[in-house]
Amino acid sequence: MARILAARGIDQATVATPLDEPEPYSPEQALIAGMPPRYRSAVAENPQVLGWVRQVADQAVAPSVGARRQVATGPSLLMAGVVGAGKTHEAYGAVRRLVQAGIGVRWRATTAADLYAELRPRSDTDAERVLVGYSRVPLLILDDLGAAKSSEFVEEQTYRLINRRYNHCLPTLITTNLPIGELRAYLGDRVASRLRQMTTRVEFEPVDRRRLQRAA
Ligand SMILES: Nc1ncnc2c1ncn2[C@@H]1O[C@H](COP(=O)(O)OP(=O)(O)O)[C@@H](O)[C@H]1O
Ligand SMILES: [Mg+2]
Repeated sequence: MARILAARGIDQATVATPLDEPEPYSPEQALIAGMPPRYRSAVAENPQVLGWVRQVADQAVAPSVGARRQVATGPSLLMAGVVGAGKTHEAYGAVRRLVQAGIGVRWRATTAADLYAELRPRSDTDAERVLVGYSRVPLLILDDLGAAKSSEFVEEQTYRLINRRYNHCLPTLITTNLPIGELRAYLGDRVASRLRQMTTRVEFEPVDRRRLQRAA
């Protein structure tokens, strides 16, 4: 190698070897790095979820001419089913499908319980900024809605989040293991009515995959 470079008058020190350079990350690799390990290999398969991916991809917008199209507006899904049915798997898998479709996705994921904990007033954080972050991110996974203990605080914060995302038509993947009637009672009419309009309901087969996996 050194001889070939010398023969061509190239100083070897100026030639980067593959080891000198960091591996170029593909958008999918970057995505996977930001996912919880359990769901890193998740790829959505549910036909309704794939339909949602197509709709969100169709509505993606390039911020400038020639730039990669980014998630902008779109419908939302309410993914309902028993614990272990594969809801969270499909939600992360849907983000992966969007990235595989060549769409730029700024996204965040939180469980509803973690979100309420983050929003509790504390002296060291600005709860308003936290809420604005989740309200404005182009794609949000809101996992296990209805799992935290119901309270006025929970209802109010959920209303503020959902209302902002509703007004801006921002796609949201919501999972819940509450039956629809119970979810409505839990969230109150204002949130339930917005969810009814902004989401398509995806029912999961009542199978606990965690139990199946343990048995296998
Ligand atoms: N389509 C799938 N293929 C393979 N494993 C899956 C699939 N869906 C779910 N799982 C696995 O089954 C378990 C339960 O799925 P999860 O999405 O966490 O359920 P839920 O969110 O409905 O409680 C997890 O370990 C997950 O990785
Ligand atoms: Mg889950």
